[in-house]
Amino acid sequence: MSEERSASGPTALVTGAGSGIGAAFARALAGEGYRLVLVDRDEARLKAVAGEFGAETVVADLTAEADLARVEARCREGVDLLVNNAGFGHPTEFLATPVEAEIAMARLHMEVVLRLTLAALPSMMERRSGGVINLASVLGFFPSSTYSASKSWVANFSRSAARSTLPANVAVTALCPGFTRTAFHDSAGMDMTGIPRFLWLDADTVVATALRDWRRGRSLSIPGWQNKTIVALARLLPMRLVDRIMTTSGKRPLAVRAR
Ligand SMILES: NC(=O)c1ccc[n+]([C@@H]2O[C@H](COP(=O)([O-])OP(=O)(O)OC[C@H]3O[C@@H](n4cnc5c(N)ncnc54)[C@H](OP(=O)(O)O)[C@@H]3O)[C@@H](O)[C@H]2O)c1
Repeated sequence: MSEERSASGPTALVTGAGSGIGAAFARALAGEGYRLVLVDRDEARLKAVAGEFGAETVVADLTAEADLARVEARCREGVDLLVNNAGFGHPTEFLATPVEAEIAMARLHMEVVLRLTLAALPSMMERRSGGVINLASVLGFFPSSTYSASKSWVANFSRSAARSTLPANVAVTALCPGFTRTAFHDSAGMDMTGIPRFLWLDADTVVATALRDWRRGRSLSIPGWQNKTIVALARLLPMRLVDRIMTTSGKRPLAVRAR
């Protein structure tokens, strides 16, 4: 862990901060005067982002127990905002995905979110301030893949946790972006060429919405009218119809097509 902390300001710990939405959180929070603790597994990329803000950095693969325990310990020391952002998608369909990759995803999207949230909350509850933003997805409202199942867990978990923490002025918010322009899809080998332009948002817009909703104490944050409409349809349409739409919408599961 590097120790470049400035003297004042609240502290935010952001995972997956070396890229995309995590780096956008780092930019926005630095602009608001937060001291940053940035976590990612790629040291060079993390240092490049952290260098912009003089942030503390933790190089960690959060699916490795020793690395996760280090970040957990940093959360226990006390942070004002925890952003559980690190995540990834599989380049393969469900039946072709090795179980080890599924377990790594389950660990990163669920166990890591659970453990870091539980490590960060006690000091927030004591101070009656601060909170957590967990990265879920619009896809968490659809039966699409183990990715969507894990993001559904994130949304339900965050809403559940918020019911316990909100009376102490501590908000837990599930951020549910749709298609967001980051390295995510390239990293997962996804072909996104057929996705209409109007469905895409940029990471800065997603983050601005998340921070606004978190400050309003909302347990669910869905950026953009496009994504709000998609989620409303998923909730209103009969389950069997949603299942059928998912089955007929392409050969590859919507993990690849509708984020
Ligand atoms: N982009 C979208 O359309 C979209 C939509 C809905 C939800 N989301 C969610 O938003 C979050 C951020 O995604 P993004 O779009 O910003 O993707 P991104 O640009 O790929 O950023 C994700 C970051 O998390 C890091 N990471 C992955 N596994 C890690 C691990 N085991 N330990 C530590 N860091 C790890 C990645 O490092 P590597 O590059 O080394 O893997 C990367 O720096 C994810 O949870 C994703 O599921 C994204």
